[in-house]
Amino acid sequence: MNTLTRLLRFVRPYWWGTVVTMVLIFAITILKLGPAWMTKLIIDDAIPKESLPLVGVYLIGMIGVSGGLNLLGAVQLYLEQWVGQRVIFDVRGALYDHLQSQSMSFYDANQTGQLMSRVTNDVSQVQFFLTQGLSRLVTTFITIAANLTVMFWLDWQLTLISLVVVPLILWFQKYSVKVWPLFRKRQELQASLNVVIQENVAGIKLVKAYGREEFEADRFNTVNEEMRTVALQSWRVFGVTGPGQEFATYLSAIIIITVGGLRVMQGHLTIGDLSAFYAYVLTMFAPVRFLVFINQMALNALASGERIFEILDTPLDVMDRPGAVRLEHVRGAVSMENVSFAYGKGAPLLRDISIDVPPGKTLALVGPSGSGKTTLVNLIPRFYDPTTGNVRIDGHDVRDIQVEALRAQMGMVMQETFLFNASIRENIAYGRADASMEEIETAARAANAHPFISEMPNGYDTEIGERGTRLSGGQRQRLAIARAILVDPRILILDEATSSVDNQTDYLIRQALDTLMEGRTTIVIAHRLSTVQRAHQIAVMEAGRITARGTHSQLLRSSPLYAHLADIQFQLATEASASAGPATPVAQR
Ligand SMILES: Nc1ncnc2c1ncn2[C@@H]1O[C@H](COP(=O)(O)OP(=O)(O)O)[C@@H](O)[C@H]1O
Ligand SMILES: [Mg+2]
Repeated sequence: MNTLTRLLRFVRPYWWGTVVTMVLIFAITILKLGPAWMTKLIIDDAIPKESLPLVGVYLIGMIGVSGGLNLLGAVQLYLEQWVGQRVIFDVRGALYDHLQSQSMSFYDANQTGQLMSRVTNDVSQVQFFLTQGLSRLVTTFITIAANLTVMFWLDWQLTLISLVVVPLILWFQKYSVKVWPLFRKRQELQASLNVVIQENVAGIKLVKAYGREEFEADRFNTVNEEMRTVALQSWRVFGVTGPGQEFATYLSAIIIITVGGLRVMQGHLTIGDLSAFYAYVLTMFAPVRFLVFINQMALNALASGERIFEILDTPLDVMDRPGAVRLEHVRGAVSMENVSFAYGKGAPLLRDISIDVPPGKTLALVGPSGSGKTTLVNLIPRFYDPTTGNVRIDGHDVRDIQVEALRAQMGMVMQETFLFNASIRENIAYGRADASMEEIETAARAANAHPFISEMPNGYDTEIGERGTRLSGGQRQRLAIARAILVDPRILILDEATSSVDNQTDYLIRQALDTLMEGRTTIVIAHRLSTVQRAHQIAVMEAGRITARGTHSQLLRSSPLYAHLADIQFQLATEASASAGPATPVAQR
């Protein structure tokens, strides 16, 4: 019930809308009793008196009532949606905000598909209930109460007899509950189908290259067939319950006509009473037929609500401390002191890391893949917090600086450049949406990106497709560099791309990086020997520790691992320049 009260808390701002809706539902249900009563009056009063004007009066009454109740119905329908859609807008917004503020560890622990399904599926379950189920539930109870009252008043014995079919109707409803697991299954299958399709579209090149079309088609067909089976199963249930309840209602009609007819003959009832009674039974059974279904709908909404609150209740682990300072302009000293770190509850991955980078200087991290270089730099913008030890900017522990202010001081160029499905201009200005066109262009020039951008059909307004597929790796990197230049950060974190590009492009990127790094504190995970050589200090990482540090020439002597890495790099560099041949205007990759 806790979930229910919490859901209702979202409804509270629109409480008056809910109250008016309930009042309208009440009024409509009472008015619905009217037409059948008018019919009774026509039969019992107007017809015996053979008075056409009286028939006219009752008819006008009937039209008035049904017109009025449908008008109220229209208002109620809209108002109900007005409230429901607002509530769901708020729920969705709260979820989204909360997801955005979650730390990276949260995203490590939760699957993308799961999170998506909470924001879409679970929210729509709640929405379905709030905008339709709730009012139906209320309508049902008011209708049952109102109709039963009038029916008892007309003839309580006949009322009891007519209720004989209720157990049968309820039995069919219990049976109909079988569709809910099938519904859930269908949603899961839908999600699997989406995954298959998404992977096939995104990985179409791989599928074709390895001739796996048939394998993928099989994968698709399996899910597709299962969906058909489940859909048919649920329709089999509906096939039983729909007509079954119809039949039960029909049975009750027969009972009422037969027994009611007898009671008219015995003088207990008038013909008008019987006709009204008959109408009331039918209008009562109509909502009763959905009672169990709506109850299940409510239970599902509660289950979904629980899953939504589970997310909303996940505490934010990377948060501003009370009294965190808003650091406006940093000098850019970055240091770590005896830092160790583990992902989740795993074994420590980084151990006893200490670094000290003075403002404006460059630290290069080198080491084999998997040694923890990316993990180490992730601690600086607080994508994760260290398990022990601390990370400092200008001597302030990063946990004492407002997260937003902290990250505003940093520029990051990651190993993989993520580009949004938007124009080149928007992608460059991602960190500074207010940048002028001139500033964007200056940044692009500094990043050696301007030439290829201006050759594109729409220049800076060229839309780059999903995942920026229409750009080469080298071009994407330069866009990322331009993005960082535009932000003009004091501290720069570079995870150099390992993917090789041709010599000319490599030269352009290196030049762009030099511009970017100038005068900024830089921590670079370096794969290029040229970057390493220019760093003020170099740290060699092995299995989560810094095992050697110094300058290039010092490390060549002191660290066998470094000497080995440098050796490989030299070889690659030599091979690349040998194969490039004489300097020719190389097409930009
Ligand atoms: N989000 C994560 N959750 C758990 N383990 C991770 C995560 N990211 C990286 N790792 C593990 O941490 C180790 C170091 O990774 P990483 O810092 O990316 O190394 P490097 O950048 O030096 O190649 C690897 O064994 C990797 O599998
Ligand atoms: Mg890495």
